[in-house]
Amino acid sequence: MTETYLTQPIDDESARAIADEGLRLSLVDTSDQAAFDQWLFADFRGFLGGRLSEDALAEAREYLSDNRTTAVYDDAIPSAAAPVGTVSSWVAPLTVPGGAAVDSWAISSVTVAPTHRRRGIARALLGAELRTAHALGVPLAVLTVSESVIYGRWGFGPATWATEWRVDTKRVNWVGPATTGRLSFTEPEEYREIGRAVIDKVVAGRAGEVAAAGVLADRLIGPLKGNPDAAKYRLVRYDSRAGEPEGFVNYVVKDSDDFTRHIVDVTYLAATTDEALTALWRFLLELDLVAEVHIDTRGVDEPLPFLVSDIRGARLVSQQEHLWVRILDLPAALAARRYEHDGELVLDVVDDLGFAGGRYRMRVSGGEASVETTEAPADVTLSVSSLGALYLGHDTARHLALSGRIDGDAVALDRLFRTSVPPRLSMWF
Ligand SMILES: CC(C)(COP(=O)(O)OP(=O)(O)OC[C@H]1O[C@@H](n2cnc3c(N)ncnc32)[C@H](O)[C@@H]1OP(=O)(O)O)[C@@H](O)C(=O)NCCC(=O)NCCS
Repeated sequence: MTETYLTQPIDDESARAIADEGLRLSLVDTSDQAAFDQWLFADFRGFLGGRLSEDALAEAREYLSDNRTTAVYDDAIPSAAAPVGTVSSWVAPLTVPGGAAVDSWAISSVTVAPTHRRRGIARALLGAELRTAHALGVPLAVLTVSESVIYGRWGFGPATWATEWRVDTKRVNWVGPATTGRLSFTEPEEYREIGRAVIDKVVAGRAGEVAAAGVLADRLIGPLKGNPDAAKYRLVRYDSRAGEPEGFVNYVVKDSDDFTRHIVDVTYLAATTDEALTALWRFLLELDLVAEVHIDTRGVDEPLPFLVSDIRGARLVSQQEHLWVRILDLPAALAARRYEHDGELVLDVVDDLGFAGGRYRMRVSGGEASVETTEAPADVTLSVSSLGALYLGHDTARHLALSGRIDGDAVALDRLFRTSVPPRLSMWF
């Protein structure tokens, strides 16, 4: 798959739409350093980042050069070399309910220069990504988003939700269990390989997690070049009593006027066992000279309030959608995951882009689904975006029905799709 998705030619339909605007859609040869640097410049500019130092640029080249890299150029601008549109994609395994890792078309770096906004460039870029993924038989596309209003129009639905917490550590005491393993400080360079293996286990252990290779894993273990907080990063590992690496936490301590009231910003917490999770939480909550711990991108089932003496001392400050899923091959996607209840439903799926629409009978027996097209009356009518929102097990069918986005038996739909452990994605890409 790796080579195919890198070399698959640019999508004709989008190339024509971009040409109609007087622009040019093109794959970027990432071995052409000048062209790739311009693409990276446009990508960072799009997300309001500063100019990259030579170090940071070298690191970005190394990390991103293996992705499928697409650009839109405006050749009419004198001496313009930086693209006016960017997107990057790769095939990443997504963990689905039941534990299978399903190939998904991961999309990132979607930017359009503010000088060229709202002329249909993003529409062409997204259309090209989805048609290419579909042509290569990849059943799903996934992304994380800067704004929640953008991607529903292309059939993506919000499939995992992330929580953000503030803990007043002067107010709470630890009431969780004691643990038997060992905590120790380490450094990213010495922990890199072990950290990557821990992240792989975290990814495999929860529906909604997307395999994190290269930069996606490394930036969870330690800071990237040019990170202004780099010198303040602290990395603590947890190993079981038998010496098995089971988790780590990476955090930055923020100064405070009062030396006894520093704030700890957790950049990533990885735990492959309940012991590791509780040991790392206890470590964070009992840090001396600290009054608050901030953490985000946790699941909706984070057990934190039950680990402390005062539930309100651990405040949930936000819950928002995180991973967006777009189903491209419906029978393959539904058959790839497992279900906690058997049942049968006829789904009428509406897909304006024509990839996954149609009427399907879905039969779940022994937790496995078989899916076939049918002419039978539908039990439920819904958009491919709504089905994407349900796909990983989050029980939002009743809410989507309430808001008029699902017609029919939403309770049966939730019963079939929901999982007792909710899906979670614990990082960004
Ligand atoms: C988001 C972004 C890529 C959109 O690019 P664009 O080329 O201006 O978008 P298009 O002209 O192709 O718009 C296509 C449709 O999306 C809508 N749209 C685009 N950006 C939108 C936004 N930020 N909010 C709401 N709607 C948006 C357009 O109105 C248009 O709607 P329509 O289907 O009703 O016609 C661009 O604004 C950008 O680079 N933003 C900053 C970086 C960013 O946030 N990227 C997304 C990362 S996940």
